[in-house]
Amino acid sequence: MVDDPSSDPERFSTDEAVENERQRLFKIIEDLVIWENSTNEEVIERARVEIRKSCAGELPPIYDPFSGGGSIPLEAQRLGLPAFGSDLNPVAVMIGKAMIEIPPRYKDCRPVHRGVLDRNHYRNAEGLAEDVRFYGRQIREQALERIGNLYPDVTLPKELGGGNATPMAWKTFLSGSTPTRAMITGGVCSAYGLSTWGHLFSDRQMVALLTFSELVHAIGAHIERDAIAAGLADDKIPLRSGGTGAKAYAEAVSVYLAFAVDKCADYWSSLCSWHSSGEKMRNTFGRQALPMVWDYAEANPFCDSSGNWGAMLDWVWKTVENIHPGNSGVEVQSDAQAVIYPPKTVISTDPPYYDNIAYADLSDFFFCWMKPSLKHIYPDLFGLLSTPKAEELVATQFRRPQGPPTQ
Ligand SMILES: C[S@@+](CC[C@H](N)C(=O)[O-])C[C@H]1O[C@@H](n2cnc3c(N)ncnc32)[C@H](O)[C@@H]1O
Repeated sequence: MVDDPSSDPERFSTDEAVENERQRLFKIIEDLVIWENSTNEEVIERARVEIRKSCAGELPPIYDPFSGGGSIPLEAQRLGLPAFGSDLNPVAVMIGKAMIEIPPRYKDCRPVHRGVLDRNHYRNAEGLAEDVRFYGRQIREQALERIGNLYPDVTLPKELGGGNATPMAWKTFLSGSTPTRAMITGGVCSAYGLSTWGHLFSDRQMVALLTFSELVHAIGAHIERDAIAAGLADDKIPLRSGGTGAKAYAEAVSVYLAFAVDKCADYWSSLCSWHSSGEKMRNTFGRQALPMVWDYAEANPFCDSSGNWGAMLDWVWKTVENIHPGNSGVEVQSDAQAVIYPPKTVISTDPPYYDNIAYADLSDFFFCWMKPSLKHIYPDLFGLLSTPKAEELVATQFRRPQGPPTQ
């Protein structure tokens, strides 16, 4: 967005002048990437001044047609530029909506819950974050009532101090005969018989995840009532139609709670192992793959330690609390080949990495848990059995055995 000084020979007529100016611009980038400067208005404004100089005095809209985890639109929004993103994958679209589209609608709003408020003044998405935490904690209590009996305390032997203790995790060895060499295909768990998503969860993990996603769905009505009591419009306009009233707010909080369930799925599958020296759970996706794990550990959703519901919820509400929303952001589902760009848009993107990552196949892991919590809020995104695959622009051989398209 900022032209190299060599493109303006009238102002920078010598190599030395060009280089000096370049270094001045690099210094702005160096200051921008310092974490502590993430919300430093003075540093951000210095960048905006340079962008305006190269863009006819205006801050142009930024569009990322392969938005994925949403980093490009999020950074554009942080700079104060109109931010647009789209992706083929519904999980990616939800991340984009959660990062750039929903927070601006509730900028500087107070929470709606009926508990004791944390502060007098709420800036940015702090109110939304507090509600995510509040209702997430209520869900924990409801889940404990429903399925707490599946996670009993254990009686400790005398040498460990005796008495009762709440297990942080149960370790289980998967039964079955050792696989033959012919079955080892690059560490893919399906080669060992874990060939459906259901196989990746023990019965107890499945009950826990189903319970939490059902509770996320159910708490929406409760949040909506609280939001009406707190003064939000009782207009019944949903989030997907641009609503900002009580119904849309309840749906917004549910979106973030659904992310907490997905975070739990990452820590509550039978592909999670125990990090012995760190005394904590490892998650399913240490990398973009689903390798076999022989001695999986099962986290206790209700304990005070690694992998519990509260810890997963903390990741989510703390992220929301730190979002500094710009004026607006838009994230939609679209095949990149069919995007309609707003006028004068700058396209900044990070397309798929040839055959390196099977985005859609891997994201079905998260899609199948997001679907029960969010299908009623975004029926178009979650009305499918799984994420779209055919249009995905990846070069994996099994999807295109005939080779890449010729044109
Ligand atoms: C390298 S990732 C983008 C990562 C992103 N920059 C981030 O911050 O996480 C590429 C993205 O392209 C998406 N994609 C693949 N084929 C697509 C298509 N035909 N249309 C739109 N998006 C597509 C994938 O779903 C994936 O999210």
